[in-house]
Amino acid sequence: MIKELNKKEKLLQLLYQNNEYISGEKLSQRFGVSRTTIWKYIKYFREAGYNIESSSKLGYRLVSSPNKLLAEEIRIGLETKKLGREINYQQQLESTNTLAAKMAKEGALEGTLVLAEQQKKGRGRMGRDFVCPSGGLWFSIILRPEIRAMLATRITYIFAVAVAETINQLTEIKAEIKWPNDILIDNKKVCGILTEISAEIDLVNYLIVGVGINLNFSSEIFSGELENRATTLLTELGSKVNRAEFLQKLLKNIEELYFKLDDFENVLSRWKELNCTLGKVVTIKDNQRELTGKAIDINQDGALILEVDNEKRKVYSGDLAIN
Ligand code: BTN
Repeated sequence: MIKELNKKEKLLQLLYQNNEYISGEKLSQRFGVSRTTIWKYIKYFREAGYNIESSSKLGYRLVSSPNKLLAEEIRIGLETKKLGREINYQQQLESTNTLAAKMAKEGALEGTLVLAEQQKKGRGRMGRDFVCPSGGLWFSIILRPEIRAMLATRITYIFAVAVAETINQLTEIKAEIKWPNDILIDNKKVCGILTEISAEIDLVNYLIVGVGINLNFSSEIFSGELENRATTLLTELGSKVNRAEFLQKLLKNIEELYFKLDDFENVLSRWKELNCTLGKVVTIKDNQRELTGKAIDINQDGALILEVDNEKRKVYSGDLAIN
């Protein structure tokens, strides 16, 4: 556990654990605060959408929760040591990556999590927009790994493996990874990852890893190009997932791999097991060029090895289409 839960978080935890009413008197004794303070905590959760019944004789009882990503909700089930030790939760932001970068510059701790229910200017790779309505999971994490800037791609591989494994562990659905870091279900994108780096000379100062996962909204909102290329977990599963539980599990999975950053072999072998790119003929486009060949391997730097006219070519970035 990252740090002691505060009293408000402990109250929410207790309400979850108890189906029965608990009196205000008992709660105030248990947490060493006045009944007015308990009432203020209850008011805070009610305003956030928790349905907490109250009776003057019996006390309080949690009837339902809003499937929101409140810091308290995340922290009561978080099993990480570092990731999510500080949480900045906002109803709406332009981009969690932008706020996280500002916080990193101002000295925010490694592992700080910035998340928003909605993003108005979600950013994707290669300067594209990323559609981020409410119901999704839109977050950024500040990392300060002591590695050379060249190795920063390893972090993105870690995140891609962790997202795919989390979907595969928590649902019946099979998620795959398309190089470099798109997560697909049935060939449609369900998650994108955007890593932004601040480095001095060659050493990483901080990294902002932004993750956007299409969870609890219907894929009907996608139009144009995205209509046939993107999907959501709700559309694939037919039911909503608990976003806080999903995030808690995902952060744990990311952290396990991040703490063993030196063992990139392990990440690569898991990435390869989950990937749907290797062995296929693909076309990679970036701003300057287009290259078609057979994807045969990933090297230690995270570069894709393409076989083009019997020659091996390394590709470090770009948009990949499977032919
Ligand atoms: C891509 O596939 O192009 C990457 C998309 C990354 C989207 C996430 S959502 C949270 C974070 N904030 C952003 O503005 N972008 C990333």
